[in-house]
Amino acid sequence: GGLVTYDPGFANTANTTSAITYIDGDEGILRYRGYPIDQLAENASFLEVSYLLIYGELPTPSELEAFDQRIRRHTLLDEDLKRFFDGFPRNAHPMPVLSAAVSALSTFYQDSVNPFDDTQVSLSTVRLLAKLPTIAAYAYKKSVGQPFLYPDNKLGYVENFLKLTFGVPSEDYEVDPVIAKALDLLFVLHADHEQNCSTSTVRLVGSAQANLFASVSSGIHALHGPLHGGANQAVLEMLESIREQGGDVNAFVQKVKNKEAGVRLMGFGHRVYKNYDPRAAIIKKTADQVLSALGKRDDLLDIAMELEGVALSDDYFVSRKLYPNVDFYTGLLYRAMGFPTRMFTVLFAIGRLPGWIAQWHEMIEDPKTKIGRPRQLYTGPAERPVVPLAQR
Ligand code: CMC
Repeated sequence: GGLVTYDPGFANTANTTSAITYIDGDEGILRYRGYPIDQLAENASFLEVSYLLIYGELPTPSELEAFDQRIRRHTLLDEDLKRFFDGFPRNAHPMPVLSAAVSALSTFYQDSVNPFDDTQVSLSTVRLLAKLPTIAAYAYKKSVGQPFLYPDNKLGYVENFLKLTFGVPSEDYEVDPVIAKALDLLFVLHADHEQNCSTSTVRLVGSAQANLFASVSSGIHALHGPLHGGANQAVLEMLESIREQGGDVNAFVQKVKNKEAGVRLMGFGHRVYKNYDPRAAIIKKTADQVLSALGKRDDLLDIAMELEGVALSDDYFVSRKLYPNVDFYTGLLYRAMGFPTRMFTVLFAIGRLPGWIAQWHEMIEDPKTKIGRPRQLYTGPAERPVVPLAQR
């Protein structure tokens, strides 16, 4: 073999070329297909951004309409797949339920699992986009013991998801436009982030020519880790525990600096951003506005802002270039919208789905793709003889 490079966490190794997302971590720049994230946040809906990521260009009004209609026609889950949720305990965390149900899609929709058939890939793409919010809402309904609703295809993507999640069969459900708009924006901000852990997982699994459902199901598990998407849940739990202990932000920061029992400031730091995460900047501004609009001033927001202030003026964080990341303020918004903490990472997954799909497409279409197969530096014993059991 040739020379093997040791690069834990692939910190300096590119496994692919990509034309989807650009990040400049020193400058705090994020662009999807060349468009700055703040302009997309201001001017484009989540479905427009999904189209952009997957097909390369922003849709025209008629392209968007066709895309939207196609997705609306696929929001239902097979009735047998609905019963699949009964197999989980009531207290199941919705993330593994989400992943399991996405995995199960490849058994229910076997006519769209061939990665080299364009028609099948197009169908699995639309099915995933359409069904993930339904699955996510059912995972939630299951956890609170409420009946599942059928998707309402008169509603847009985010509105339908909100109704499936919070609606009950006997009552009308009015979607709050402030919540719908804020959630759509959060999905836009999460839609892609180049070769992060879950996306790299989707690509790695896909590189073995596994189908899109299987690849995305694996990505959902990677996202659930607390160093990745699971951080949004961890941030809220951290803020609550600071409040419970009397709200002493300085004492908590001291614990982090002492590296006590692996305590980290959740929602801070990033492998690529060595500057303020541009998504966090937008979310912080939005959190303030949306919380006021919903009349839900939250003392946890005050703790979060104080925590940020203390950290950003402390040499430990400054010298390591640790800034708030996307997960620092999102939980406060999700909470104000009525989502329980355990749904936060599920919301991240819905937002990230178009990115996973776009990256999987790029991987499967790239003639330079090879099966993902990292090397290692062996550190185990040198050759030694096996001693038979009786003589050991
Ligand atoms: N709190 C305290 N110290 C930290 C933190 C933090 N959140 N993040 C990094 N450090 C320290 C770390 O201890 C190390 O210090 P030292 O050199 O003294 O050992 C230094 O900063 C470099 O850290 P690293 O672990 O080598 O950095 P990494 O690029 O491997 O890790 C990270 C990136 C995001 C996993 C890490 O910053 C972290 O654990 N953050 C908290 C979890 C989090 O918020 N994750 C969400 C990431 S953004 C979106 C997403 O993926 O969901």
